Parts: sequence; structure tokens; C-alpha cells
Amino acid sequence: MATATIWEEIVDALNAANGGPHPGHRAVHAKGTVCSGTFRATPEAKRLSRAAHLQGDQVETTIRFSNASGDPNTSDAHPIAGRGMAVKFNLPDGEATDLVAVPLVVFLARTPEDFLEMTRARIPDPETGQPDPDKLGAYMAEHPEFGVAVQKGLPKLAPTTSFATSDYRALHAFCLVNADGATHWGRYTWEPEEGLDYLTEEQRDAAPRHYLQEEIRRRLAEGIARFTLEFTLANEDDPLDDPTAEWEGEHEVVELGELEVIEVVEEAETPDSPIVFDPMRLTDGIEPSADPILTARPKAYSVSIDRRSGEGAP
Ligand code: HEM
Repeated sequence: MATATIWEEIVDALNAANGGPHPGHRAVHAKGTVCSGTFRATPEAKRLSRAAHLQGDQVETTIRFSNASGDPNTSDAHPIAGRGMAVKFNLPDGEATDLVAVPLVVFLARTPEDFLEMTRARIPDPETGQPDPDKLGAYMAEHPEFGVAVQKGLPKLAPTTSFATSDYRALHAFCLVNADGATHWGRYTWEPEEGLDYLTEEQRDAAPRHYLQEEIRRRLAEGIARFTLEFTLANEDDPLDDPTAEWEGEHEVVELGELEVIEVVEEAETPDSPIVFDPMRLTDGIEPSADPILTARPKAYSVSIDRRSGEGAP
């Protein structure tokens, strides 16, 4: 038997940490709602990048809002379920570029090896149904960045009243390259135009299990959800390759454009035609950093995609 790759081990560990595997579903962010919308960039975006979707013409987008858990039955009101917002910008040449984001401030692990160890430490003990506190404690002692990310992230992961009242960050640094070849490093944030709005404890207790999926349907049946795409420019000494490091102090923030989420796309994907959001699906005018988590993600995503689609599907 061939030895499993680290990417397979990561997906196996994610499955085990999420009460899975859950056949036919993503290993994480298993439950979601796909929407369509449009994006229009600001003139400032064009000054920073020559990327096709940042030139100011309206582009069609596909958006998937998700609950971050790998268990499709988790309640959207779970205090630490977390969310995701994945956006595919459909470019005029028929290609696409993706932007994948979550409501964390910084990421939980610095390398894929750490991510694997962290995920294994989170696997519930079959006897107690909870992660082994000794294993988790040992991991946290060795990796203080994990505790910091959880502490900073917890208030943001709390359930919001809507997918449209949460913010989302792509966490890694990317480099925008303009028509003259000038470069600007930064990090992306989607800010909801309606502002942030979290459930009260009372609302949380009363919230139906899939309330976020139901709410976005109701909202888009009646109107539009809007987000502003912001780019926080890196200062000279900000680390570009470490998604666990917060960029502290004053930073210039540039508004790159506005996303209008217009309607829900029913039955958007099937096992034969899965929708894939890939954080490394970039385009001319956007360069990745050497962040080892960013460069690792497509390899782990491929394992999940193979298992949930085509011949890997149940
Ligand atoms: C080593 C680190 C990471 C691993 C191993 C990992 C793993 C995965 C996997 C296996 C999937 C399912 C892919 C699919 O079946 O399509 C996924 C989806 C997702 N991940 Fe990650 N992830 C990592 C880091 C991150 C980070 C840093 C972010 C946010 C900045 C993020 C946000 C998301 C989102 C939003 C989705 C759902 C995308 C969709 O709706 O299709 N992940 N991740």
C-alpha cells in the first residue's frame, strides 16, 4: 500500500476532527450557499494592479458562503463554527481568479506540518467526545501563535445575524502589480456594507440549525448584499510569509471595489461538476507570497475535491 501524503493525512485528520468523513462534502466548510453577483473595482485598484477584474469594468462573480465546519449538520449558531466567503471573479478571457476568506484576524498555524499536528490534537477522544486536553495543551505550549489566533479570532467567529453582516479576511499577503510593474504588498478584507452584527445569546439559543443559509436566501429574494473589498498595504517591516503574524500599528487601507451579491444559485454544483475555489488561482497583476500555508492549500484542497467529486464521490 502506498504511504499517504501529508495532504491526505491533513484531510484525514480534518475528517476525524469533524466527525467524518461526510461523503460528498468538502472536508471543511462542508455546508454552504452559492450565490451570483457582480464586482466593480475602484480607480485606485487599477492604479495598484493590472489584474483584469481590477480595471473598473463590471465582472460576474460566483460567491460561496459557508459554515467552516467539516460536518454539514453543524448548527450555524455554534459559537465557534466560523464562516467562509469564497469569491470567484469570472474574467473577460473566460479564466477566473479566486479569493478565499474567513472571519479570523490571523491564521492558526504557520506551516502545513503544524496544521496537521494541530488538527490531530483537536480530534475528539471517542470516550469523552472532546479533544484530549493534554494533547491540545501540549500543542498550545509549543505553538503560542495558535493560542493568539484563537484569542483574537473567537469574537469574530461568533455567529452573525447574516453572512452579509460578517467580515472576512484572506489572511495571506499578496502582491498587486500594476501596468508599470510597480508592486504593492497587502492583505485583503471583505467588509460588509451593512456593518458587523452578531447574534445575542438569546438569538443564538433560538436560531434554527441552518439559519445562515436560510437568511441569505430570504435576504437575496428581497434585495442585495454588498461588501467592500479592502487592501491593507504592508509596512516595510511587516512579515509577508507568516499568516499567524498580525500587522500591528497604523496601516494605509485602499478600497479596491464593491461586490454586490445578487441571488442564490440553486443546485450550483454536483459531484460531476464541483465548484472549486483555489486561493492560488491568481491572475496576471496579482502575485502570491512564499507563505507556506498559502502554497500548501491547493494540495490539501485537491485531496478533498477528488474525494467529493467524480470517481471519489459516494
Ligand atoms: C493548511 C491550511 C489549510 C488547510 C489544510 C485547508 C483545508 C481546506 C480544505 C480541504 C477545504 C475543502 C476544499 C474543497 O473540497 O473544495 C477548504 C475549504 C476552505 N478553506 Fe481552507 N484550509 C487551510 C487554510 C485556510 C485559510 C488560511 C483560509 C482563509 C484565509 C481558508 C478558508 C477556506 C474556505 C473559505 C473554504 C471553503 C471554500 C469553498 O466554499 O469552496 N482555509 N480548506
